[in-house]
Amino acid sequence: MTAGPGDKGGGKSGGKGGAKSGVGKSRPSGRNLTVRVRTARRRSTSSTRWLQRQLNDPYVIAAKQDGYRSRAAYKLLQLDEKLGLLKKGHAVVDLGAAPGGWTQVLLNALGPKGRVLAVDINEMEAVPGAQTLVGDVTELATEEAIRAALGGLADLVLSDMAPPATGHRATDHLRIMALAEAALDLARAVLRPGGGFVAKVWQGGTEHALLATIKRDFAAVRHVKPEASRSDSAEMYVVATGYRGQGAGNGAETDAETDTEIEAKSGETET
Ligand SMILES: C[S@@+](CC[C@H](N)C(=O)[O-])C[C@H]1O[C@@H](n2cnc3c(N)ncnc32)[C@H](O)[C@@H]1O
Repeated sequence: MTAGPGDKGGGKSGGKGGAKSGVGKSRPSGRNLTVRVRTARRRSTSSTRWLQRQLNDPYVIAAKQDGYRSRAAYKLLQLDEKLGLLKKGHAVVDLGAAPGGWTQVLLNALGPKGRVLAVDINEMEAVPGAQTLVGDVTELATEEAIRAALGGLADLVLSDMAPPATGHRATDHLRIMALAEAALDLARAVLRPGGGFVAKVWQGGTEHALLATIKRDFAAVRHVKPEASRSDSAEMYVVATGYRGQGAGNGAETDAETDTEIEAKSGETET
């Protein structure tokens, strides 16, 4: 942990990408509920609950103070703090980038020689210093557009993609895993040998078939749930490093190490 809420004042944007550079790395640790939201006639119980959680979420508060577009920024900061994923001058593809918290973190971490390609199915407000691309990552046309925009190979492919939550656990699980698979396909198409891959996954880790492919294609695989990922959310991240390069698999058995850091708990989709 570095600074905590209250160590920083104001809410003005500063560094490249709008976030204050180098501040509030993995920030909050306490979660004291203080603000109570009264039910209003036109507000449903679930909206009241959501509002109360937002108002009391230390990461939401810290994101405002640090100038990040989303609380999700702290998840990437914590993953990087733990695993040292982000390197100066690297080219990184940020899948499911909107509203842009991860993109801001990347711009700060990669420095002026780094490159960030932020991709989302929805339009997102430009993040100065990053290239943005609108497209559905499950479509081949988007893969082609990403390749064209990169004009070379990437060092790291990140996916924080999440579908809109239906509230139906099995459906949400299937959809998020389909997005993780699409992200992996994309990673295999654009990563340089030695490159890394991070994707949001669901529940007790990555599905068997997907995990087998990742282990075949990467030298090391871990599952990590950063502190900023809500404890009642089933999300966690699969982190794979040491891409073996295209065609490395071809039926070969894996010798990748797999390490599950924290068991994901069941719960709702986090966005
Ligand atoms: C949890 S949000 C990402 C938050 C972001 N990492 C940040 O730091 O602000 C998930 C994003 O995934 C995007 N997404 C969902 N399905 C997608 C798809 N098929 N292709 C591209 N983006 C997708 C959503 O539009 C949404 O913006």
